[in-house]
Amino acid sequence: MKPLIVANWKMNPLTLAEAKLLFNKVKKTQAVICPPFIYIDTLKANGAQDVFWEERGVYTGEISPLMLKEMGVKYVIIGHSERRKYLGETDEMIDKKIKAVLEVGLKPILCIDKISQLKKDLKGVIVAYEPLFAISTGKPCSLDKAKKMRIAINGKLDKNTLIIYGGSVNSQNAQNFIKKAGFQGLLVGELSLNPREFIKIIKAVSQA
Ligand code: PGA
Repeated sequence: MKPLIVANWKMNPLTLAEAKLLFNKVKKTQAVICPPFIYIDTLKANGAQDVFWEERGVYTGEISPLMLKEMGVKYVIIGHSERRKYLGETDEMIDKKIKAVLEVGLKPILCIDKISQLKKDLKGVIVAYEPLFAISTGKPCSLDKAKKMRIAINGKLDKNTLIIYGGSVNSQNAQNFIKKAGFQGLLVGELSLNPREFIKIIKAVSQA
């Protein structure tokens, strides 16, 4: 199966013009591209970085799963460690978001850095193992530890669950996370903003 590659642009780039330029360079890769909400419609992006758990109503500033679906989004990152850290997202909130996303037929990508963040009922969820020490540090997880975690996550969930790795992925280490550590995809942050590197990552894993 072709590895699932997810681009997490985070709060970048600053202008729509730059976003269009970047998107046009990487869209042919068919990766899941998760730009900031305000660019999703123009780019026709297939991914989002977050969502709210209610369908509609008096929730100032929030975006509902149905709105994302209507824009053509297919995948939604949920529970990224930056949201847990800076926005106080709790496991309970994350759980509600997963349910809401599954209900409308979108695919949640649940980010975890510990096994204890896995709840029992995660059918249909893609799990991204993202160790905190590896996110935006340039220090990826060792293959050995990543593989152990992948096996431990696998043991807790339905055998068909897709498990991907994220944290300082680059074109040198990408293939090994798939080939040696056994992940079925990658979540790429910083280097997803660099089209040449991002395309190199995709090429590397397509040879895995
Ligand atoms: P990074 O980010 O690739 O810049 O480490 C990964 C992530 O936060 O999803």
